Amino acid sequence: MDEGKQLTGTLALAVFTAALGSLQFGYSLGVINAPQKIIENHYARALGVSLERSRMLGNSTDLPEEPKDPSVVMYWSLSVAVFSIGGMISSFLVGFIADLRGRVKGMLMVNFLAIIAGLLMGLCKMWMPHIMVIMGRAVMGFYCGLTSGLVPMYIGEIAPKAYRGALGTLHQLAIVIGILLSQVIGLDFVLGNDEMWPLLLGLSGAPAILQSLLLPLCPESPRYLYILLGKEQEAKKSLLRLKGPCDTTSDLEEMKREKEEAAKEPKVSIRSLIFSSVYRQQLIVALMMHLSQQLSGINAIFYYSTSIFEQAGVSQPIYATIGVGVINTIFTMVSVMLVDRAGRRTLTLVGLGGMCVCAIAMTVGLKYQLDLPWMSYVSMVAIFLFVSFFEIGPGPIPWFIVAEIFSQGPRPAAIALAGCCNWTSNFIIALTFPYIQALMGCYVFILFAALLLCFTLFIYFRVPETKGKTFEEIAAIFQKKRPMAKHSTELDQLKTSTDA
Ligand code: GLC
Repeated sequence: MDEGKQLTGTLALAVFTAALGSLQFGYSLGVINAPQKIIENHYARALGVSLERSRMLGNSTDLPEEPKDPSVVMYWSLSVAVFSIGGMISSFLVGFIADLRGRVKGMLMVNFLAIIAGLLMGLCKMWMPHIMVIMGRAVMGFYCGLTSGLVPMYIGEIAPKAYRGALGTLHQLAIVIGILLSQVIGLDFVLGNDEMWPLLLGLSGAPAILQSLLLPLCPESPRYLYILLGKEQEAKKSLLRLKGPCDTTSDLEEMKREKEEAAKEPKVSIRSLIFSSVYRQQLIVALMMHLSQQLSGINAIFYYSTSIFEQAGVSQPIYATIGVGVINTIFTMVSVMLVDRAGRRTLTLVGLGGMCVCAIAMTVGLKYQLDLPWMSYVSMVAIFLFVSFFEIGPGPIPWFIVAEIFSQGPRPAAIALAGCCNWTSNFIIALTFPYIQALMGCYVFILFAALLLCFTLFIYFRVPETKGKTFEEIAAIFQKKRPMAKHSTELDQLKTSTDA
């Protein structure tokens, strides 16, 4: 068997352990949707604003449809939005944390944030629940911003190149399983009820406990040990643990060349990455991949699917939403199987193109469903297909392709910038979608269709295939697009500016 193709138990353990962070990210993304009315009602009671209405309704399951009190609305919106704000801020720190003590210790260190966040939310009934939940969601968002960079970075660095895509996609698979879990546990007869909702929110910290127990068993990234710290022996030990008994010469050779390359490069800060033209091609590709993931409208479906299904005439929208979660998970698994064969570029193109067609079909369905009742099936099928196409490529690939297209020097800064771009655009969509929907009515998905078309064209013209290539080969593709003399002069300038 080709040594580069060995999947060992230690590698599986390391990837599984890292992906627990992604599971937590997905759970936190999804958990806030189902129990909205119950939590709003609880806030209202804590704020003393709608007790009268609750009493009038007689029992706690007959919750008021929409607590209109502005302070409740404000505290609720903050509880949702503060998560993304936490992520936007912390994604900048990914590079710093990853390089501080290594990838494994980095993930271990940040786990205390998840545990604190879980406790704040789980124990929120003990003090002012609205404040406790907001604090918990802020800390959890901060944690998830870090984890959404650290996990793909670690997996990308330890994965054998033949499986880098499949293992990288496991980050997204864990996210979608987290979303699905939160949807199921959030049903009112499980934990999404008046009694248990703090536990539902608090559980988002639970995977961190398991991850903290397992991380000490995981080998540190050999690339970090060798290229950053120059510890050849330790890197070799780590490689042997990850790959099993084998000849590590070719891996060490590859890392050695990467180290030599890295020595020519300055340690790239976020600022120098933005302003230097050396990595501009890669940076544009990385940011566009993340923008295409978020501006595709996927989270408009996730955050507002229940109301979209209601509009499409579904009588039990919550189950349709769980159906979306199931499809989402199944197609991410399909992507795990395809990504190293079909390639990143092909899957992204098929995914974005397919989503564009579905967005148009959704619009037609929503527009004509009043006149032609069968049209509501068109919109429903279009929603399911939209999600499937997303998970084939545009969902998982941006998360790991950034680690692939940047060499060791600029990689942490690039992951930080791309992560921040992802969190910011996610936040903007969450905040503005209801307004855009109110403005455009059933035509809202036409907007996403237009954006999807632009992204498809961009990927077609500008994104090279990275499947099965070494980091060196990938860097070479981008450098080939630049005249050599220009490249070295700019590299020198970058070095001088960073040294200064
Ligand atoms: C990706 C996106 C996230 C989205 C999820 C849906 O991970 O980054 O925003 O909610 O996919 O599966």
